[in-house]
Amino acid sequence: MNFLEERILRDGVVKEGNVLKVDSFLNHQMDIALFERMGMEFLRRFQNEKIDKILTIEASGIGIACIAARYFNVPVVFAKKAKSVNLDGETYTAEVESFTHKCKNQVIVSKKFLSAGEHILIIDDFLANGCALQGLISIVKAAGASVDGIGIAIEKGFQMGGSVIRNLGYHLESLAIIESMDAAAGKIVFREQPARSYSSSVEVQCGHRVASSGISDLQ
Ligand code: G4P
Repeated sequence: MNFLEERILRDGVVKEGNVLKVDSFLNHQMDIALFERMGMEFLRRFQNEKIDKILTIEASGIGIACIAARYFNVPVVFAKKAKSVNLDGETYTAEVESFTHKCKNQVIVSKKFLSAGEHILIIDDFLANGCALQGLISIVKAAGASVDGIGIAIEKGFQMGGSVIRNLGYHLESLAIIESMDAAAGKIVFREQPARSYSSSVEVQCGHRVASSGISDLQ
């Protein structure tokens, strides 16, 4: 079991309707030391990709993306959500339907901040049905940039988003994949992920700090 799975078991709360509450460490109160481990782990998993920029979506993706960006040493752009938008030609937009919140949002990124030829890593906190992700992917494509990786903190593996995105051929890495959860029993089952080992070390440059990340499977 890795560090995020352990934390979910310790502090996550399973609610009726297949909802996992992680607001004490991930998407309301944020544990920055945990985010740093996640950032380091994303860097390890995407070490073979050349990443120019991280793209995320407001609100909960922003914190995770910002800490990860310190490890990749790249800027972060976050897509804004709006109920209605002025389409003035200066923005890329996509319509995103939220099954959880039962609403539709326009997702907007200014054309100034995504350019043709850029290599983009998309980061978000949850992957459920994958609608937000599909919207971000369409925006990257519209900009003529490429999606070189997708990093997710928690994937709900029993919803279809992950398999749709993987079937489209994207390099998707989820730090924790939930196979099933049971609100009554408070039980969470994670999908086993393949053990990885790397022959070379990942140099992690985070601001002024230079650290060496672990090369064995994540703990
Ligand atoms: P999708 O984006 O993968 O299609 O998922 P869906 O429409 O079902 O999810 C809508 C919102 O609910 C997303 O946040 C998503 O991160 C969040 N979500 C989905 N399942 C869970 C869950 O089990 N627990 C929690 N805590 N959140 C979940 P959002 O609308 O973008 O909101 P936010 O980023 O502003 O928080």
